[in-house]
Amino acid sequence: MSTESTTPTAVTMDKITALCKRRGFVFAGSEIYGGFVGSFDYGPYGVELANNIKAAWWQAMVQHERNIVGLDSAIVTHPKVWEASGHVGGFSDPLVECRECNTRSRADHLLEEIDVFADEKMSVEEINQVFDAHRDKLVCPKCGQKNFGTVRQFNLLAQTNLGNFSEDWSKEPAYLRGETCQGIYLNYKNVLDSSRVKVPFGIAQIGKAFRNEIAPRQYIFRKREFEQMEMQMFVPPAEEMSIYEIWKQKRMQYYVDLGFKPENLRFHEHENLVFYAKAAFDIEYKFPFGFKELEGVHARGNYDLTQHQTFSGVSLEYTDPYTNEKYLPHVVETSVGLDRTFLAVMTEFYDEDNLGGETRTVLRFPFKLAPIKVAVFPLLKNRPELVAKAEEVFALVSKHFRAEFDDNGNVGKRYRRQDEIGTPYCVTIDFDTLGEENPVLKDTVTIRHRDTGEQERVAIADLANYLK
Ligand code: GAP
Repeated sequence: MSTESTTPTAVTMDKITALCKRRGFVFAGSEIYGGFVGSFDYGPYGVELANNIKAAWWQAMVQHERNIVGLDSAIVTHPKVWEASGHVGGFSDPLVECRECNTRSRADHLLEEIDVFADEKMSVEEINQVFDAHRDKLVCPKCGQKNFGTVRQFNLLAQTNLGNFSEDWSKEPAYLRGETCQGIYLNYKNVLDSSRVKVPFGIAQIGKAFRNEIAPRQYIFRKREFEQMEMQMFVPPAEEMSIYEIWKQKRMQYYVDLGFKPENLRFHEHENLVFYAKAAFDIEYKFPFGFKELEGVHARGNYDLTQHQTFSGVSLEYTDPYTNEKYLPHVVETSVGLDRTFLAVMTEFYDEDNLGGETRTVLRFPFKLAPIKVAVFPLLKNRPELVAKAEEVFALVSKHFRAEFDDNGNVGKRYRRQDEIGTPYCVTIDFDTLGEENPVLKDTVTIRHRDTGEQERVAIADLANYLK
């Protein structure tokens, strides 16, 4: 069947959000209550895609790496952890309020709109100076007025009373973790003492993180409750920068191996480093709203282990088993958001083309990311013998893959439904499968390929191997 890609599809956020809602990938959080800003839920296909993204990351970071192990640490930790990490004192974004409509915005984002650089590492005085110099050009995104108050720093850590039963718990709050890596630092010694790892080694973790984002925006790109996939590599100080370079390249290659076009990815070096960091690069992806941070790769020095050693009073030093040298390992970090990867994957693989004279929307997901790997159709739903055979085939393939059974509407419509959710293969059980017309074709099915629309005949017994 002929496919014509209409000149490269302009992927817009409107197209992606509409498809995500229509086909059950992403729903607005608490929708029946009018929504809850910065919160989203993954629907039936969304959770499959999210799980596949996490599995692909885990495979690349843990399964394929000899010296990286996994972890699942608690979301709520001892509150001192966040003092030691510097989050209680300094994890803030510059907030500015519109005097006309009281909308709160991030001052650095307003400045970014007019191509002026500012970021969260600037002091409040510095950012106010920059802000004041450009006030006449800065517009409230809600009401369009140019009447802002003074910029102040707003702490992003979300507090909780978990484990605190006093009336005024907010005086001694616990915190929902602002980044997953702190749980890794807390367990670095446990992992060293309980497994056979030696420096350099890494610990990888996937889990929820929470930030009181002032202005969550761009759909699932910036959420208040989100998921991170982070790996911290503990390395000898002298090897920090060479190991950092290796991970920078590996993480870029990871996206290319997943099927991303290299021209949609780029590195961006941080101009304004936090004081302890030696180097920091973002891997940026070309989202529909432009190139933005997808992942961060950071050389963090020994700041984190030093802080936790000081605040806990427990030595976190490593003793080299060959030289007996004692030192605090340095950390090379790779950190990516699941939700941002999800949005990047939707953007990268969204396409519209013309297949056999019909325009369609198709998600060209690689097999390992596709929410549904194979859909099984009986040619006609009112022929019990076809339906029974299709059920048999479904039972067989669903042992190996996430599969879907569909007997609703004509086969063409069923193909379109599967194209839209990115299913690589559709299998149809017809009268040939039953051996009614040509005995040679008995127990074979038609496999239709999502990307080309091409069809071929395959024996049911070979299906599982064929589909891999
Ligand atoms: N441990 C380092 C760290 O947390 P970060 O640059 O603040 O660094 C790392 O976050 C990654 O987490 C980002 O590159 C992004 O993919 C994701 N991320 C951060 N804030 C997010 C938010 N509010 N919503 C969704 N993803 C977010």
